[in-house]
Amino acid sequence: MAIERTLSIIKPDATRRNLTGKINAKFEEAGLRIVAQKRLHLSTAQAGKFYAVHAERPFYGELVEFMASEPVVVQVLEGEGAIAKNREVMGATNPANADAGTIRKEFALSVGENSVHGSDAPETAAEEIAFFFSGLELVG
Ligand code: CMP
Repeated sequence: MAIERTLSIIKPDATRRNLTGKINAKFEEAGLRIVAQKRLHLSTAQAGKFYAVHAERPFYGELVEFMASEPVVVQVLEGEGAIAKNREVMGATNPANADAGTIRKEFALSVGENSVHGSDAPETAAEEIAFFFSGLELVG
């Protein structure tokens, strides 16, 4: 399988509870390498732009407000089949449906406050990585 890169966000519910290290350990144990990482406090405009694809959804306002409420850690994960592997490690969007051992099963509070975001496909991964990082910041 090809080496891929995917965009990951550790969300405010997790940074607030000091879970960045525990979540990073899950990625590294799964063979994903953190090749870029930074902590940011998004404005509502930035969070709204990142999640623009969900603008028509009923939860959009809540999602944007939450993502701008406290700091996030944005990161690029690299590895074989990194996009699918990260989605496996994260678990289902709704923690109630997430498998045992996944990040969302262990740490998420609700479908909204679900601790992590991960890109869902190669095209979105490329767009989402470029949203937060320049090429110079990706250190493989
Ligand atoms: P994420 O992978 O970041 O992509 C979009 C996010 O919208 C998703 O994780 C959830 O946190 C959030 N989301 C999805 N469905 C709902 C919902 N029904 N209510 C609130 N937030 C939601």
